[in-house]
Amino acid sequence: MSEKEVDEHSGVETTGHEWDGIKELNNPLPRWWLIVFWVSVIWSIGYWIFMPAWPGITGYTKGIRNHSERENVAVAIEALDAARADDTRRLIAAPSMEAIENDPDLLQFAMAAGGSLFGDNCATCHGAGGQGFKGYPNLNDDVWLWGGSLEEIKDTITVGRRSEHPETTNTLMMAYGRDGLLPRDDITALVDYVRMLSGQDYDAEAASRAAPIYATQCIACHGANGRGDKTQGAPDLTDAIWLYGGDRRSIYDTIWNGRAGVMPAWEGRLSEEEIIALSVYVHALGGGE
Ligand code: HEC
Ligand code: HEC
Repeated sequence: MSEKEVDEHSGVETTGHEWDGIKELNNPLPRWWLIVFWVSVIWSIGYWIFMPAWPGITGYTKGIRNHSERENVAVAIEALDAARADDTRRLIAAPSMEAIENDPDLLQFAMAAGGSLFGDNCATCHGAGGQGFKGYPNLNDDVWLWGGSLEEIKDTITVGRRSEHPETTNTLMMAYGRDGLLPRDDITALVDYVRMLSGQDYDAEAASRAAPIYATQCIACHGANGRGDKTQGAPDLTDAIWLYGGDRRSIYDTIWNGRAGVMPAWEGRLSEEEIIALSVYVHALGGGE
């Protein structure tokens, strides 16, 4: 292979490689390609010197700059936490929750924090948008069992309802049938009375028979006019909004078996500032009073 062969068409030397009569020309690499090649070689050597590059057995070469993206992220997170802690402190320092609602910056922070806390802690029972389910109240409407002011909402979240918290409220809808407080006939008549209160079709004879029973058994909580009582969590029976359902079957079930929905207490599980953020968030969901 020592003697060089020159291709007669192009005048370029061949490499001596040949496949089925096709010969490889020994063209030099294009200059631009060579420049790029050498520049990248030099660049990578520089890179090895300055930046973390080569893996070793116990670690990696750190480079003169000792750059670490992981540390940068840690520092950024710390800075963010510090900024948040500032906002969090302001939530507690605010003179009232109304003041938080009137401060656009704080409100924005409370809504963001409240929204994410709601998703983590409350959405399982109340729905992702607070729309509620049977037995779990809708938090978007302006119908409240326990009251929709900021303070009332905060109290509900803090001590819960029928929860294990020592200061929780425990009034409940008794099981008039199951516990033998009223005979079955009275209960079916009361179903008509409740349907009358809520403006649905009802049997007038049954409802008038139930009127005195309602007056003795039910008004203490639901009121003479059926409008309910928020201090006891007794629902308004005259609106068309039902916690457990307004059809005959559901009303009968409610009076026969009783109802005692449990809203857990969050004091101790969430911090004061988290409860404040949640109260502002729930209040803003639409139905705040
Ligand atoms: C385990 C289910 C459950 C979880 C979790 C839960 N709740 Fe409740 N919540 C209830 C039930 C049930 C009621 C209704 C209690 C009743 O029947 O009186 C309620 C009632 C409420 C009320 C009162 C509504 C009214 O009409 O007065 C508010 C406000 C509330 N919840 C907010 C929250 C917030 C905020 C969270 C998250 C921190 C949360 N809930 C988590 C079950 C739950
Ligand atoms: C000690 C207070 C108390 C008395 C007395 C009482 N209730 Fe209730 N009632 C409640 C409470 C509290 C609830 C809501 C239970 C819950 O949130 O889980 C309720 C719920 C109801 C509901 C369900 C409403 C809905 O939105 O689904 C109906 C219907 C009802 N009561 C009818 C009656 C009738 C009829 C009587 C009389 C026989 C009566 N209640 C007596 C406290 C009372």
